[in-house]
Amino acid sequence: MSTVVINKIDELRDIIKNVKLQNKSVALVPTMGCLHGGHKSLMEKACSIADFTVVSVFVNPIQFCPGEDYDQYPRTLDADKLVAESAGIDVIFAPSVNEMYPNLNKFSDLTMVAPPYELTDIMCGKSRVGHFDGVETVVTKLFNIVQPDKACFGMKDIQQLFLIKKMVADLNFPIEIIPCPLVREESGLALSSRNKYLSDSDKTSALTISKALFAIRDSFKLGIKDVKKLFDVGLTNLDKNVELEYLEFVCEDSFKKIDSSDTITKNVICAIAARVGGVRLIDNVILEV
Ligand code: PAJ
Repeated sequence: MSTVVINKIDELRDIIKNVKLQNKSVALVPTMGCLHGGHKSLMEKACSIADFTVVSVFVNPIQFCPGEDYDQYPRTLDADKLVAESAGIDVIFAPSVNEMYPNLNKFSDLTMVAPPYELTDIMCGKSRVGHFDGVETVVTKLFNIVQPDKACFGMKDIQQLFLIKKMVADLNFPIEIIPCPLVREESGLALSSRNKYLSDSDKTSALTISKALFAIRDSFKLGIKDVKKLFDVGLTNLDKNVELEYLEFVCEDSFKKIDSSDTITKNVICAIAARVGGVRLIDNVILEV
């Protein structure tokens, strides 16, 4: 069956109502479009675990901070349709900004969903103030519109995944969050819609982000558990054109930051955010004890 594109909330609600009347399960993959192999792996997972699948394609204005790339963010719905179709998705939900936020000009009027401060005062939440409020708000709206049984999120955005899982638990959404592995190019570079902005030489520099993370993971496997030493291994592997925003170590189960003076005794996420040629990239690895 071919994938249909739906732009209106009411139209999608009617479709979902009908699907539920047939006792079919629904899975949702929220995205901002410009779909690549990482998104496709989430869509394929969704298709393997539910009878009916929806991918949302919506560049969510309220999760971009002032001065970020909201206007430039690639919008490629025709190509996205082909990717979604090849993954077996039933519906692409691609609403307009006005459909999702009819009163966006009165932004202060909008009810927002916000994660706890201490979980956003680290990593991406620290540099992108308010970003995760925008993410949780749009994801809540998508959950209410689509009413999925399951929703797939990628481990590439590891802080987002942690916060969505917590939001679903804290607010009792009857939805199972399915974490999906981070997908990389053969070179090691994490797939991202923003890779499109990279020149060839930027890409060569960007490759050192995953190289640094892999070097940290290798050193960890060889027995180095001291965070300061692992941090230095990362730094020495990064190209000089990589402007580091953060290189942080957090506990996998609590997302609490691990100090540079600490030694790793349980599973830890090691994450990097950096700019290369002005393009912001994120990546992470898990250090398993
Ligand atoms: P977006 O960046 O389009 O990502 C959509 C989903 O695809 C997220 O769950 C993300 O983790 C996953 N993803 C992206 N690149 C991936 C990769 N290389 N490997 C595995 N998964 C990958 O994340 C967002 O959009 C937005 O914040 C959203 C949740 C849609 C809310 O607006």
